[in-house]
Amino acid sequence: DDIEKGTYPHFMLKEIDEQPFVIRKIIQEYQGDNDDIKLESDIRQAMLDADRVYIIACGTSYHAGLVGKQMIEKLAKIPVEVHVASEFSYNMPLLSEKPLFIFISQSGETADSRAVLVQVKEMGYPALTITNVPGSTLSREADYTLHLHAGPEIAVASTKAYTAQMAVLAILAVDTARAKGYELDFDPMKELAIVANAIEALCDQKDVMEGIAKDYLSTTRNCFFIGRGIDYYVGLEGALKLKEISYIQTEGFPGGELKHGTIALIEEGTPVIALATQENVNYPIRSNVQEVVSRGANACIISMKGLDQTDDTLVVPEVHDLLTPLVSVIPLQLIAYYAALHRDCDVDKPRNLAKSVTVE
Ligand code: G6P
Repeated sequence: DDIEKGTYPHFMLKEIDEQPFVIRKIIQEYQGDNDDIKLESDIRQAMLDADRVYIIACGTSYHAGLVGKQMIEKLAKIPVEVHVASEFSYNMPLLSEKPLFIFISQSGETADSRAVLVQVKEMGYPALTITNVPGSTLSREADYTLHLHAGPEIAVASTKAYTAQMAVLAILAVDTARAKGYELDFDPMKELAIVANAIEALCDQKDVMEGIAKDYLSTTRNCFFIGRGIDYYVGLEGALKLKEISYIQTEGFPGGELKHGTIALIEEGTPVIALATQENVNYPIRSNVQEVVSRGANACIISMKGLDQTDDTLVVPEVHDLLTPLVSVIPLQLIAYYAALHRDCDVDKPRNLAKSVTVE
């Protein structure tokens, strides 16, 4: 094993800490001359030719895809569907006339995603793979590849690949928007540099995250994550991270859905982690928090500077509202890490899980 943990007790913690460097590396790799984005012109053309983008992925990569949909739709104004690979292959939806398939896969080896790639190639459609491993199966078999430049990810629970995927998707979305001639008030490299600093600041607050993990999660059997819009997607990832490595039963869902079922599970002391980084839903998500608190929940509110309120548990630095997931996920990764550590779980190699699932 050439890759060492160095002074870190676990790969997961090392990989969480590497995220600012990964984001800076992505900026460097994708920065062209004169503020241009460095991207193969064939990829740019494939985006321009598409009347609809289909993102196919599994697990954490699927969660990055959900955020990517927002970025591509808001910036490049191309409709996007995001599908779990194993569902898509057996229940293919009606396709548009000129689809472009984007496969998001850290490893580039996930069998469920590959099954879809094989199907859509047989149908003659173009495919782009966004992966951390150029030369992997999904990269070789697709028409185009975008590289994540995250460096090897060893811990089973994905961290730096997720933030890298969203950074690359943001760059791709901006590139397409510019190629379509849209005037954007969004310089991705500048905004990503702000993100890298924000991640660094959060990684310097590990004692705070450890405290949150102890206060909220040391003995609980379950934990809920709520958010709205892009925060909901980050909540899904936070719920996955925590369940994967701590074996706490978790669920992430949209704040507005609470009243349609999950609120029945709220008891005295039930932890609910709420994300509030989006101005347009700051008021409704906070009323969702009130709903659970009044039923006894132990609410942990993670908000963004500028939208924060006095009793928030943690306030993350302000970044562009399309890039908040890259920042708000950091405390969730760290909280999951410390929860697993304090519950004596095998952080890097959780039971029953594999880093790369090469069987369907
Ligand atoms: C496994 C891993 C997850 C990962 C998923 C998709 O389940 O444990 O961390 O998100 O596969 O992997 P991929 O390599 O395709 O991103």
